[in-house]
Amino acid sequence: MHARALTATTIALLGTAATLFPAPAAGAADAGPPLVVAHRGASGYAPENTLAAVDKAAELGFRWVENDVQRTRDGELVVVHDDSLARTTNVEELFPDRAPWKVKDFTAAEIARLDAGSWFGPAYAGARVPTLEQYVHRVERHHQKLLLEIKSPELYPDIEKQTLKVLGNEGWLERSHVAGRLIVQSFSADSVRTVHELKPAVKTGFLGTPSVMELPAYAEFTDQINPSYRTVSLGYVSAVQAFRGPHGRSLEVFAWTVDDADTARQVAGYGVDGIISNKPDVVRAAVGGG
Ligand code: G3P
Ligand code: CA
Repeated sequence: MHARALTATTIALLGTAATLFPAPAAGAADAGPPLVVAHRGASGYAPENTLAAVDKAAELGFRWVENDVQRTRDGELVVVHDDSLARTTNVEELFPDRAPWKVKDFTAAEIARLDAGSWFGPAYAGARVPTLEQYVHRVERHHQKLLLEIKSPELYPDIEKQTLKVLGNEGWLERSHVAGRLIVQSFSADSVRTVHELKPAVKTGFLGTPSVMELPAYAEFTDQINPSYRTVSLGYVSAVQAFRGPHGRSLEVFAWTVDDADTARQVAGYGVDGIISNKPDVVRAAVGGG
């Protein structure tokens, strides 16, 4: 049975905690294939979080891309996953005396010199760590949609406000984008809450698996609960979807990071709303969506 097809009665039987909370929100039974998000771009096929990975997602036909946003020493927002530049660039070669090569310790000009593609393969030599501005331009060019992660916000005071400022400057807070092309997520509940408070119209996601008992508090400020696929079950997905988020719609679940067909089928069977994947084409071939 598809989780989103579960009735209110069935959900009530899933656990005592779930029965304490609201009946399923309207629309919870509208199951279709999950939306598929290209994680860090199509990062199974191109270097993660680069413009090439955005291009690859577009080439494969994917509308949604995920990225990770951090901040340089001189205050530029850049798209990179680790808090160190060492794994995905040639920073150690260019700046051998700057260990541990933290993003926050390098200027935007220094980061712009780095090769963020060669580690992945010679075809991508010269790919750069994009600024958030460059990144959203490329996403816009492809008419794609953005699942933006604020990464390690504890390292970057007020990064939420700054991220929203950049998005606003680039037109991403206009109704055309906020209504269906943008979600801002974080592992930090405080960060997600801050985004919601600063710009209530923006759709938000919390990365993690809060207990069902905690969900009413999360539903005040987040539209999505986005867990590792390893931590979800049919019962949990149904329990999450039984709540309404801050915009009055059923809370959604996007599971990550699913790169094989069997796991894709498993989590799709749980009724997740989205699957985040480095190999989105593999997920699409297994469960549809896109
Ligand atoms: O979007 C989900 C996923 O990106 C969270 O984990 O470490 O890949 O940013 P991570
Ligand atoms: Ca991420």
